[in-house]
Amino acid sequence: MTSGLQRLLITGGAGFIGSNFVRHWLQTHHTPVVVLDALTYAGNRANLGDLEAAFPEQLTFVQGDIGDRPLVDSLLQKNNIDTLVHFAAESHVDRSILGPAPFIQTNVVGTFTLLEAFYHHWQGQGQPDQLRFHHVSTDEVYGSLSPTDPAFTELTPYAPNSPYSASKASSDHLVRAYHHTYGLPTLITNCSNNYGPYHFPEKLIPLSIVNMLLGKALPIYGDGQNVRDWLYVVDHCRAIDVVLHRAQPGSTYNIGGNAEISNLDLIGLLCDQMDALAPDLPVRPSRDLITFVSDRPGHDRRYAMDIRKIHQDLGWSPQVTLEMGLRQTLQWYLNHPDWWQPLLTAAYQQFYQEIYG
Ligand code: NAD
Ligand code: TYD
Repeated sequence: MTSGLQRLLITGGAGFIGSNFVRHWLQTHHTPVVVLDALTYAGNRANLGDLEAAFPEQLTFVQGDIGDRPLVDSLLQKNNIDTLVHFAAESHVDRSILGPAPFIQTNVVGTFTLLEAFYHHWQGQGQPDQLRFHHVSTDEVYGSLSPTDPAFTELTPYAPNSPYSASKASSDHLVRAYHHTYGLPTLITNCSNNYGPYHFPEKLIPLSIVNMLLGKALPIYGDGQNVRDWLYVVDHCRAIDVVLHRAQPGSTYNIGGNAEISNLDLIGLLCDQMDALAPDLPVRPSRDLITFVSDRPGHDRRYAMDIRKIHQDLGWSPQVTLEMGLRQTLQWYLNHPDWWQPLLTAAYQQFYQEIYG
């Protein structure tokens, strides 16, 4: 009988948050980890390169699709997995607007496939209490807030507005149903916007950093007054760790940074920090690069997370302030042009053209 949390299968472990989590887990717990990742445009084996060298015994990388049931079955069985942490997803709202089909396939059908495989794996072992299926989700499932609305709690009704958030909401509902109907020991966490190292330069913060370094325009959608709550990615990883260790099966937790800010203020702050950190910039001050562009269709106005439950039940709270986390992130991109420059491929330029024209 397993005591739990000894052998992990991490889906999407070559992506932004997944690779940060693999790093956190191996450095903290040293137990074996199998990463299953399809290496889509957002997945990058280089995100794990140093870890594969440092933890050759503990870390196994498998390139494959979460929708490949025979593959998932064999990974669960062969590695005697007791904990599945599910990050794999199509994750970018703008791409979901251009083409929603992969979002349904991976986020909904893929999650269903994982649930089925994990359910049969759990049943085959006599339904041990210690197994865990941890589903990593987003605050976007709750929809949009007005400036004066209270923050989302775990009881806020779902009201997703984009194909991305609708696909994540669907997967959350499936995970909930597998717990409610079959008793599968699941966990769900809904987190606010993350930022930090290894973030693909399509999301607001890494795109703005890379564009500042290249002297390119910083595109701000609409009036720039949309508000997000930002969390440093390592704080998110610590929260998932705490939930895995301490939360009751079937529970859900909101995770956030208590750091609400408008997009315009955020990018202004990032510009000022960049100007202070980087000696050679093609354009200075970086604020001169800020450019207002057409709004995203259906753009949610504000997200905010009430994180009292995870604080009160499990003792977690964010440790890295927005100012500190942004400075660390900027410094990481300044130190790692070898990481981000190869990502600016012809496919990336084509995506950029489609979104920004
Ligand atoms: P990401 O796009 O950087 O990484 C996704 C990873 O999943 C990539 O490595 C990709 O190759 C892999 N993947 C995609 N489709 C796959 C498939 N069919 N099979 C196997 N692997 C596949 O995403 P991220 O920002 O790291 O987000 C990770 C998870 O966290 C997602 O579920 C996302 O919804 C959630 N989340 C993200 C944020 C955020 O701010 N980035 C906030 C809250 C929740
Ligand atoms: P993003 O990083 O795509 O995350 P999400 O849509 O999941 O919140 O966007 C964060 C905010 O920044 C969101 O309000 C949209 C806005 N945004 C811009 O203004 N310009 C951009 O080029 C991008 C990518 C996002």
